[in-house]
Amino acid sequence: MPANKKLLVLPGDGIGPEVMREVLRVIDWLDRRRKVTFDLEEGLVGGAAIDAEGAPISDATLAKARAADAVLFGSVGGPKWDGLPFEKRPELGILRLRKELGLFANLRPAIVLDALADASSLKKELVRGLDIMIVRESTGGIYFGEPRGIETMPDGRRRGVDTEVYTEDEIARVARIAFELARKRGNKLCSVDKANVMQSGRLWRAVVGEIGRSEFPEVELTHMYADNCAMQLASRPKQFDVIVASNLFGDLLSDLAAALTGSLGMLPSATLGAPDSAGRRHALYEPVHGSAPDIAGKGIANPCAQILSFAMLLRWSFGLEEEARLVERAVERVLAGGLRTADIMQPGMARVGTTVMGEAVVREL
Ligand code: NAI
Ligand code: MG
Repeated sequence: MPANKKLLVLPGDGIGPEVMREVLRVIDWLDRRRKVTFDLEEGLVGGAAIDAEGAPISDATLAKARAADAVLFGSVGGPKWDGLPFEKRPELGILRLRKELGLFANLRPAIVLDALADASSLKKELVRGLDIMIVRESTGGIYFGEPRGIETMPDGRRRGVDTEVYTEDEIARVARIAFELARKRGNKLCSVDKANVMQSGRLWRAVVGEIGRSEFPEVELTHMYADNCAMQLASRPKQFDVIVASNLFGDLLSDLAAALTGSLGMLPSATLGAPDSAGRRHALYEPVHGSAPDIAGKGIANPCAQILSFAMLLRWSFGLEEEARLVERAVERVLAGGLRTADIMQPGMARVGTTVMGEAVVREL
């Protein structure tokens, strides 16, 4: 564990700064009560960076991200910047960060806390206790493969092209992260592809199988077609523990899994890069939700997704498992105690704003 934990905080736009403020309370608590001290730096990203620095992320901020042990990201975007051309939009801030830091493995837990089992789109008994981790490859596949574009053919008709490309090392590195996770959890991994109709899917299935047999023989590996996986997630989600999928399938399946939990304001994520020779890896942590312009500035955003993203940071970037569990349990207990922000409000519960929720988490800690 590095002596100096360097953390870059990028609150971004909309509710980003509002929910980040509550994380800073948690960090302050850790500092005072557990002697976990962070070297905190703050930077601008997204629309906030466009307004102040002329670009969605400056080279100086990128350099700080590279030098940090972990990046805690809020969210970017909003109507103010919607008219800008694609190359200038706030979202480019997060895309550049992922690319420059080589963040290829996106970890999205879908957890149904007992207190929120009612929020799911599924029947309570199907989701109670649900705890799935979806590992999505996030720098390759069809969102980046060449050739891509819209072209006009000689006869004047237009043609749109995207290409799904995966090399075996791209598959192997994300598979290893998924297997490692499976080993720490239920020793069960489901790899998702369309090996029946896609060549990249055939290679995906072969490489994941090889890594499993040679490096993780104790993990029970199953393969599932992506369409079937969507159906299984929506009907019997508790059969899954860890799922690994390509960029495209992981995008769809992780949103589906998020819907099963029914509470966007509760969902954290981590995106990890490859470890260097010293075992240090770049990593970025952010809530699944966006900048929620419809409620920004009202003080009613749910800070839990951002706080739980910080818990993932404690676990994945610093190995502080005990502290991560403390933070997660504090959130669970605040909910069990009946406090709710507007997005997860239920009959008979006490409706509170962002600050009261954050303060309650710290009190529970
Ligand atoms: P969104 O996630 O910002 O909001 C969707 C709905 O959920 C809204 O009704 C919002 O009020 C609610 N919501 C989201 N987070 C919440 C929270 N913590 N507490 C309470 N309610 C919450 O998605 P939307 O509306 O599609 O996008 C808004 C902006 O955010 C866009 O500019 C979009 O590009 C950007 N965005 C940015 C992301 C990022 O920074 N990684 C990810 C997703 C969207
Ligand atoms: Mg998505």
